[in-house]
Amino acid sequence: MTATTRDHTLLELIGMLVDPAARPDPYPVYARIRELGPSVLDLPLWQTPGAVISSYQGCEAVLRDPRMSSQRGRDRNLADLMPPGAPSSVRQRWFLSLDAPDHTRLRRLVSAAFTARRIGRLSERIAGLVDELLDRAAERDGPFDIVEDLAYPLPMTVICEMLGVPAADQEQVREWSSRLTRLIDGFGAPPTEESISGLLALNVYLNELIASRQARPGDDLISALTAVREGGDSLSHDELVSIVALLLVAGHETTVNLIANGALALLRHPEHLAALRESPRAPELAEAVVEETLRYDPPVHITARVATEDMELSGVRLRRGAMVVLLLAAAHRDPRETEKPDVFDPYRPEIKHLAFGLGPHFCLGAPLARLEARLALTRLAQRLPEPVLLQDPPPYRDHVNLRGPLSITVPRPSLL
Ligand code: HEM
Repeated sequence: MTATTRDHTLLELIGMLVDPAARPDPYPVYARIRELGPSVLDLPLWQTPGAVISSYQGCEAVLRDPRMSSQRGRDRNLADLMPPGAPSSVRQRWFLSLDAPDHTRLRRLVSAAFTARRIGRLSERIAGLVDELLDRAAERDGPFDIVEDLAYPLPMTVICEMLGVPAADQEQVREWSSRLTRLIDGFGAPPTEESISGLLALNVYLNELIASRQARPGDDLISALTAVREGGDSLSHDELVSIVALLLVAGHETTVNLIANGALALLRHPEHLAALRESPRAPELAEAVVEETLRYDPPVHITARVATEDMELSGVRLRRGAMVVLLLAAAHRDPRETEKPDVFDPYRPEIKHLAFGLGPHFCLGAPLARLEARLALTRLAQRLPEPVLLQDPPPYRDHVNLRGPLSITVPRPSLL
């Protein structure tokens, strides 16, 4: 195939991927993109042609490649869109899109407070919240929406409580955060006025919340972040605001999809759902179900890097500044890496995925997301007397990258 036909086909396939018709099942399109191999992508808004990588090994290599930058430029453009009186913290880049040494420094300081111990302590509270949400749905008339009634409120409440956002403010924070998702989806539509005003409002709110925690520290994560000292270094006020905003948004919209995609896979595979409900080895099975969901139907489909020098990448020549798009969801179905990749099988001897990224930017919230999903899916399996999908496929949200169902309706859960 000549370079031109290949580019043309790739653009057509990306058009199909972005089309809402592909949302319920984008995997056949990903397979066709993967069959093209590493490909050049030349979009009008890019200064130089970029590459699309869709094989497992290709994505893994890019995530580990020190010549690749995470500074994708999006949030700098965002800062330019802010009104003149906006708080200075709005201009602070999220460390997700910073490189060493700034990234290393911020990640080290955040990791000192966002510890495995702090997350482990939450287990009982998360299990209690799952039951509360299921009770509420059981007591109400009509069908149960797993997304709206469980998958969406659970991660938001957990991260808000962890950060110390007062209960009375959580609904508002949730609304700002969902307006912001469009900004981090990063595919398709440009930022809207709605999403920008969401970012601004969240920043103003967090400025005040952080100042109040600095004045009166508590047992929450914001207070812990405020207190971190490492070799004389600490987080500035603006850095704190941007970190808390990142934790709120990154921790929320992704975990919703993990719980929803896992529930959908279980409902479509009643044998695994029954095993999770009945097996004395349910905790290990729940762990495998979560890992297989992360591979089979990941919450984040795409990430990107920027080449910091002229280079050749899997046969594609790139100039400095070229965008490298990584189709993680395509890589997870790569038959060279996983046998029968299109089958949902939590009993695989090894489940390989890049759902949390890899290398220096590996997801900081992975242990929290895994814990929430394990507890939610196990309780769901135990408390659904009639585990049948009332609509299959379910409707999907329009996000291409942070892809997930809008609702999953099933008959009501049982009361405890
Ligand atoms: C980074 C996915 C949950 C916080 C990342 C990255 C991915 C990812 C793919 C790396 C992006 C890249 O390298 O380009 C997910 C998924 C989640 C999830 C699939 C849920 C299933 C969470 C949670 C939190 C969180 C619960 C926090 C409460 C972060 C942070 C980073 C990150 C702070 C940036 C790390 C860095 O740049 O060093 N996540 N995430 N994530 N995630 Fe998550």
